[in-house]
Amino acid sequence: MAAKTGGSFTSAVQEMFGSLAHRYDSFNHWASLGLDYGWRRAAVRSLQLSDDAMVLDVATGTGDLAFTAARQASRTAGFDFSPQMIEIAVHKAQKGKVAGVSFQVARAEQMPYGDDFFHGATSAFAMRNVKPMLGEVLAEMHRVLRPDGRVAILEFSRPPVAPVRWAHGLYVRSIMPRIGRRLVGSAEPFEYLHRSIEEWLSPEEFAERLRAVGFAEVGYRRLALGTVALHFGRKEG
Ligand SMILES: C[S@@+](CC[C@H](N)C(=O)[O-])C[C@H]1O[C@@H](n2cnc3c(N)ncnc32)[C@H](O)[C@@H]1O
Repeated sequence: MAAKTGGSFTSAVQEMFGSLAHRYDSFNHWASLGLDYGWRRAAVRSLQLSDDAMVLDVATGTGDLAFTAARQASRTAGFDFSPQMIEIAVHKAQKGKVAGVSFQVARAEQMPYGDDFFHGATSAFAMRNVKPMLGEVLAEMHRVLRPDGRVAILEFSRPPVAPVRWAHGLYVRSIMPRIGRRLVGSAEPFEYLHRSIEEWLSPEEFAERLRAVGFAEVGYRRLALGTVALHFGRKEG
């Protein structure tokens, strides 16, 4: 995907994820060496949910983080702007007979939910893809949360330790596109992945963006040698 801005960036991202949807899960688990399961559990744990909680998973893709949340929450809603991704999430929910979870097609910059509704809001590896309208998306996450509701966001990060940064850069820049080309038939999504990680905010900068839309108790935890950051915050009561 060539560098784009605004609306054309959004439609290019939508098209790319639509075409990747049917191979997305195998790519995801393979590329993270299976570590993504633990990251998702850590994200849900940080929401400190009670049994009757309602959770929203933003840009849910094929729904894995929503399924993780559904194990602890009473109801979980997931949405994504890719109909192909949502189709797979719905199929997985039916096949796995997962109760209390629902999916719909929607856009992160205009969420179809009322104010002060959810006890927790999550999102994994989607924020880089909404970077041109990040303020709007974070403001929407804040709006739909109840007072005292918590947000948990996973995103890639550049490791702080130089040798790890170098090795991770090599993995994402060179190794992943080669293996990815065999897996999904094109290196383009992996080149995009590499570029979007390079151009992404530092965890400190992202924390600032969370504070800017009104979140309190903002912080982050580095995971997997700093290649991933788990960001969190609370909507003030
Ligand atoms: C890297 S995938 C992550 C999917 C999922 N959260 C996961 O962890 O597997 C990014 C997802 O963001 C979705 N997405 C990107 N921009 C979006 C937007 N503006 N509104 C809704 N979904 C969006 C894509 O369709 C894609 O499914």
